[in-house]
Amino acid sequence: MKVERIAVIGTGTMGNGIAGQAALCGFGVIMFDVDGERVAAAQAQIERTWKKGVDRGKVPAEKVEAGRDRLKTATDLDAAIGDADLIIEAVPEKMALKKQLFAAFEKGSGPATLLASNTSSLSLTEIAASTGCPERVLGMHFFNPVAIMPLVELVRGHYTAPETMAAGRAVAEAMGKQCIEVNDAPGFATSRLGIALGNEAMRMFQEGVASAEDIDKAMVLGYRHPIGPLALTDLVGLDVRLAISEHLYREIGSDTFRPPRILRQMVRAGKLGRKTGQGFYSYD
Ligand SMILES: NC(=O)c1ccc[n+]([C@@H]2O[C@H](COP(=O)([O-])OP(=O)(O)OC[C@H]3O[C@@H](n4cnc5c(N)ncnc54)[C@H](O)[C@@H]3O)[C@@H](O)[C@H]2O)c1
Repeated sequence: MKVERIAVIGTGTMGNGIAGQAALCGFGVIMFDVDGERVAAAQAQIERTWKKGVDRGKVPAEKVEAGRDRLKTATDLDAAIGDADLIIEAVPEKMALKKQLFAAFEKGSGPATLLASNTSSLSLTEIAASTGCPERVLGMHFFNPVAIMPLVELVRGHYTAPETMAAGRAVAEAMGKQCIEVNDAPGFATSRLGIALGNEAMRMFQEGVASAEDIDKAMVLGYRHPIGPLALTDLVGLDVRLAISEHLYREIGSDTFRPPRILRQMVRAGKLGRKTGQGFYSYD
């Protein structure tokens, strides 16, 4: 199936990134969020991202003009999804919420519309089970910031059809991304490996093996990671990391995923990383 129109549901951190990049790359995009203020904030954020692209000479100004014409907003869910070839959901990481939305997507969209979730860890098979069309459901896991990060992790649920995966790949590639394909498993490839490394780094910090700076430098200078695991935890948010770690520990059982004590403690103390100004590092 050829995708031309995309509905993006949820316009927070990820939704605005996905919507902006899709519009820039030639898709007709409609964004919807339950919170109208988030839609306005998303439009402003998309404009800032595009301006940065133009200022740095990465994106031609005409491409931005055309992208702006292709980007629309909707004030209710059905108006957003009615004509979509592909719906990409980017609402908070809560299974009950995603299931409720996917059931509504199936009702409110066409019989061939593809339904994608940007979940970073939840089961695609379980999300798809809330619909009567699990063959049209897939994971399209983008990374933050979407305009810059080159990866999309395509997740194949138990019943996802090969054509659905192929269409997801075509969209991601048209958005300038490279894809990996992963079968539905807790944390897929990226979150599972990322949490394993992050948790071990936190346990080392808590045991006093080295300072946060030196643990991060070990990976940056020794293993060519662009950012160390503790700095990355601050960037993503300690609360977000804790929720994923708890989910993986429940699902996989391995002690690797048991949330480190220090992570729980810092979340209880409100040290959530960059967004609160305090995490493993301090931010102004
Ligand atoms: N933040 C990241 O770095 C990151 C990276 C990859 C994947 N993800 C995944 O992307 C998803 C979204 O994460 P985020 O960080 O953008 O969250 P966010 O909290 O920034 O944004 C979520 C948005 O969804 C909206 N929303 C809530 N309920 C809704 C509903 N019923 N209908 C429409 N909109 C609704 C909220 O108002 C909010 O604007 C999650 O599944 C998360 O795991 C996040």
